[in-house]
Amino acid sequence: MKPFKLPDHFLLGSATSAMQIEGGDRNNTWFKWCEEGRIKDGSSCLRAADHWNRIDEDLRLLTDTHQQVYRMGLEWSRIEPENGVFSDAAILHYRRELSLLKENGIQPMVTLHHFSIPLWFADLGGFLNPNCATYFERYVRYVVEHLGDLVQDYVTINEPNVYATNGYYFGIWPPGEKNFRMTMKVLANLARCHIRAYDLIHELRSNRNSGGQTCADDEQADYGGQTCVGVAHHLIDFVPYSPKWLDRAAAKLMSYLFQGAAVMAFTTGRLLPPLSLSGVFKRSQVVSDFMGINYYSRHGVHSRGFYTEMLPDKPQNDLGWEIYPEGLKRVCRWSHRHHPSLPIWITENGTCDAADAFRTQYIYDHLKAVSELIEEGLPVERYYHWSLLDNFELLEGESGPFGLFAVNFETQERTLRKSGEFYAELCRNHGVME
Ligand code: BGC
Repeated sequence: MKPFKLPDHFLLGSATSAMQIEGGDRNNTWFKWCEEGRIKDGSSCLRAADHWNRIDEDLRLLTDTHQQVYRMGLEWSRIEPENGVFSDAAILHYRRELSLLKENGIQPMVTLHHFSIPLWFADLGGFLNPNCATYFERYVRYVVEHLGDLVQDYVTINEPNVYATNGYYFGIWPPGEKNFRMTMKVLANLARCHIRAYDLIHELRSNRNSGGQTCADDEQADYGGQTCVGVAHHLIDFVPYSPKWLDRAAAKLMSYLFQGAAVMAFTTGRLLPPLSLSGVFKRSQVVSDFMGINYYSRHGVHSRGFYTEMLPDKPQNDLGWEIYPEGLKRVCRWSHRHHPSLPIWITENGTCDAADAFRTQYIYDHLKAVSELIEEGLPVERYYHWSLLDNFELLEGESGPFGLFAVNFETQERTLRKSGEFYAELCRNHGVME
């Protein structure tokens, strides 16, 4: 492995989501989905990694591996278990967790919505409800009023495009709908929720980035308390399955539909077709302080049938996703071309590898790619590995291990993998040494 160095102000850490690690919550849509037997290995997010009862132990996983930043989820269904009723116990729990992180020198980023919603909100139609932004805003207000002093960095919505397409187009996640119009509606409503949350968080923290100034203008890692609000976008490197011009056109269209239009809505408030079918908001001011990128893989696009497939004879992970570090560069360059004022934070990147056979190489290759992007002049500032520990993986349940730490779900024992050791050294040295 050739050595490389990341800038001193570059921040390294990992990411998790509440529903995927906490366990113990029966009040969210994923719990219900699991109860219906929808998960491949029959497991349930009710168990997960029992993180709710292990925040002290799991904090040590972060400090032992020299991580500087940690992206964690807040579970809406715990914080607001009933419509308009907030839980002191839940918010105090998160206060304690955030305080522990701060005391240990780890800068937290919180995700306000990461795929799961409270059952009462789902009963009201979830993000199809015309007043969803009002409900979301009320939850966000409560969070920021109670935790805002401990949090600088917010992801409002994790992967809005994946949430909308898997839940409303492919029907493989709750609520299991298969309807294009609903998919667009949910996506547009999520953008509305994001914009309301963006404004509210800045208003409550009253240091809104104005006049085009963003977190990017602060060269150093310490943003001096500046609040940064953005979205974690799932970006795929879509390429034509074959060199045929029809496949080339299809790849462009797929990329536009899945991510181009969505990213535009969440960063500028502009709704382009087909999102504009669901309303028009025309704000073209920046409504994100950073570009959060979750990158996992490249997909080949077929024009015939307009679907995607992994390219043949390429290295793949346990879930059959191609391992393609060059794609990270391509999606970052794409993002920078379209939204040059925004710093790039890799809010997720990682791989499913039960045997831990290729995760070390994966981490090396993707972070090497990041170092090359920085040399090119791209403002890539952070990297959050997915994930800190094995968790309840969507679709696969307990059988999709993405962790730097392996979890034995029976005993809840955590064990640092070899690749985790490698990442810890990389975090400590800010790169790979000779
Ligand atoms: C999601 C995570 C998920 C990971 C691996 C990402 O798209 O944000 O919640 O666990 O992919 O599937």
